[in-house]
Amino acid sequence: MRVRELLAGAVERLSAAGVETPRADAELLVGHVLGLTRSQVRLEHGRRLSEDEEAAVRGLVERRAAREPLAYVLGEWGFRHVTLTVDRRVLVPRPETEIVVERCLELVRDLDAPRVLDVGTGSGAIALAIACEHPGARVTAVDVSADALAVARENAARTGLAVVFEQRDLRGGLEGRYDLVVSNPPYVSAAEIETLEPEVRDWEPRVATVGEEHTELVARAARGVLEPGGWLVLEIAAGAGAGAVRLLRRLGYEQVRAGADLAGRDRVLEGRWRTASRRR
Ligand SMILES: C[S@@+](CC[C@H](N)C(=O)[O-])C[C@H]1O[C@@H](n2cnc3c(N)ncnc32)[C@H](O)[C@@H]1O
Repeated sequence: MRVRELLAGAVERLSAAGVETPRADAELLVGHVLGLTRSQVRLEHGRRLSEDEEAAVRGLVERRAAREPLAYVLGEWGFRHVTLTVDRRVLVPRPETEIVVERCLELVRDLDAPRVLDVGTGSGAIALAIACEHPGARVTAVDVSADALAVARENAARTGLAVVFEQRDLRGGLEGRYDLVVSNPPYVSAAEIETLEPEVRDWEPRVATVGEEHTELVARAARGVLEPGGWLVLEIAAGAGAGAVRLLRRLGYEQVRAGADLAGRDRVLEGRWRTASRRR
């Protein structure tokens, strides 16, 4: 069979399964098996596949048709300048989280060796991206999930970046001293998760997605570890901006604001821990 026919069948299968971007996904899956980029796949429509290659593509297409996230099927996903191993143990890193990292980098740009804590690191995406893009940063990352930490450690080894990982439940508080605390905490309600697409609802770890109290938990706990003048940066749910700004002000943070993601929605919340008369 040639690439053209296999692609046509894959697109049909994925469309029927309700996948939103069937052609792009099919091209990426074929490319994954053949070791080609998506644009190279488009130039290779006439190429004949071996039986093994064909079987491998079909296997991946069936997984995707079961609405397993594309990133899990591919086994890796790009996040800013790093490529990370991802599977069912971790949340798939999202584009809006790249904006969170962007803001963190801006806030610590003038520090030679900022101490950074990533709370709920999952695949290690935020921690590793910061370590990659600010070579002086000393990054610690915590997660309650031992499974997620195993993936994050794999990603540190894979990227060759130095991050200290610790298993920690945020509910027990945080430890250390930091110039920046960053987190993309779970922020979907138990009711809302049931309305989301199957990739999120059925495949991503619930510990990574469901939780409405985590934003406040991180904001409270961060007060105990931030240096005066240190920054808290949180990813928040679309539409949560105004309430989250009020929360941080109430907790004593200054210079609080919610910034927009690529779609113009407030997704990045920041606040500065007070520089004088600290109150916990
Ligand atoms: C939304 S995911 C974020 C993963 C990664 N930082 C990212 O942005 O792609 C939230 C993470 O918080 C972790 N988490 C959930 N509850 C936690 C808790 N109580 N203490 C520490 N980590 C927690 C989950 O295991 C998950 O890895």
